[in-house]
Amino acid sequence: MSSLEQARTDLPARPFIDYRDGQLMVEGVSAAELARAHGTPLFVYSQAVMLDALAAYQRGFAGRQALICYAMKANSTLAVLRTFVQAGCGLDIVSAGELERALCAGVDPAKVIFSGVGKTRAEMRRALEAGIGCFNVESLPELDVLSEVAAGMGLRAPVSLRVNPDVDAKTHPYISTGLKGNKFGIAHTDALAAYRHAAALPGLKVTGIDCHIGSQITETSPYLDAMDRVLDLVDAIEAAGIQLEHIDFGGGLGINYHGETPPAADALWQLLLAKLDERGYGQRKLVIEPGRSLIGNAGICLTEAVFLKPGEQKNFLIVDAAMNDLPRPAMYEAYHAIVPVQPREVKAQTWDVVGPVCESGDWLGRDRQLAVQAGDLLAVCSAGAYCMSMSSNYNSRGRAAEVLVDGDQARLVRTRESVEDQLRLESL
Ligand code: LLP
Repeated sequence: MSSLEQARTDLPARPFIDYRDGQLMVEGVSAAELARAHGTPLFVYSQAVMLDALAAYQRGFAGRQALICYAMKANSTLAVLRTFVQAGCGLDIVSAGELERALCAGVDPAKVIFSGVGKTRAEMRRALEAGIGCFNVESLPELDVLSEVAAGMGLRAPVSLRVNPDVDAKTHPYISTGLKGNKFGIAHTDALAAYRHAAALPGLKVTGIDCHIGSQITETSPYLDAMDRVLDLVDAIEAAGIQLEHIDFGGGLGINYHGETPPAADALWQLLLAKLDERGYGQRKLVIEPGRSLIGNAGICLTEAVFLKPGEQKNFLIVDAAMNDLPRPAMYEAYHAIVPVQPREVKAQTWDVVGPVCESGDWLGRDRQLAVQAGDLLAVCSAGAYCMSMSSNYNSRGRAAEVLVDGDQARLVRTRESVEDQLRLESL
């Protein structure tokens, strides 16, 4: 296989991000030209990939009452939010910062849900003022505090309780959230009592139930199991006289990073909706909170090979992107495909692709077959989710710039962070 053919098989977002005439293209725009114009490291997102991923969910929910709340922690860049909001999405937020971004992107506050285990009083107040659609509450003390804050404002906060269905999402332990040992949600066995408690509080209006069992889930069975467990609870809660307007099944659907074959969103929802229908809940209002599956494969990170450093045990390919830009390999030993922007037809060698940060954990890919020279451009694939939003200034590196591509148009949607930007909040 030629280098080009090999690289093409590694691309998870074809045909939207693919080679044309030996050049990596994001839709109609040349990746090399973007790197020349804006420098590296540079995140580039394809709007077509985003909307294609969203369309799979929309097809899956055709004819149902469903609200897709994009989990903006995956990528909270305003232009990304705006794209999903304009396509009809609500947003799942986890902080006051995300709320302000969401409002800035023009979301209808009624389509915002607020998740997270540690909401502060100030965050609750701000979200109530904004008129968000629902608080996804995770503990009894949170119910009490939210009721007090809302009642103090003369309001009733719309709430859903996040229940922990205790199912194994079969994913990385750091991103598995639906098991008993996790900090998330209210235990299945305590849920009914928690609902009774919530229904009796003066500042709350119980509107729903939610769950989220983990992230990068590639099998259907954990979803089906979780749905059964949640619906058992809905039966019990409604039998106790507490009516639920909506059921929120969280996010978590995985993507193809390295040959994984998660179900397509519409195929997954065909199965889940069949179960809902069977159990009599098919016409209930549904909410979901997908993050990664909407944006993960829409993004690449362009980086330049700075030095080649062959060694006795390992060959290191040092690039200008690092763990501060792309933290997932260091944090979860995650795999991201790394491909050349302009493949060379020379013999490939095995490289560890690493960044310049002073940590051995600063690697982006290990044992990769690449034909490269210093100065070449590479693309780190599947970099749309949990990369820019988890980036940092470690080693006083400025955050990367971001470009959004739509057809043959490219827009710089975030300027590269300068040293002045970094120093602005400090004083001597
Ligand atoms: N809803 C809740 C309550 C969540 O906690 C999450 C993600 C989502 C929705 C969205 O899940 P998604 O559809 O993106 O899987 N940084 C990790 C992933 C952390 C996920 C945290 N919660 C990573 O890079 O793999």
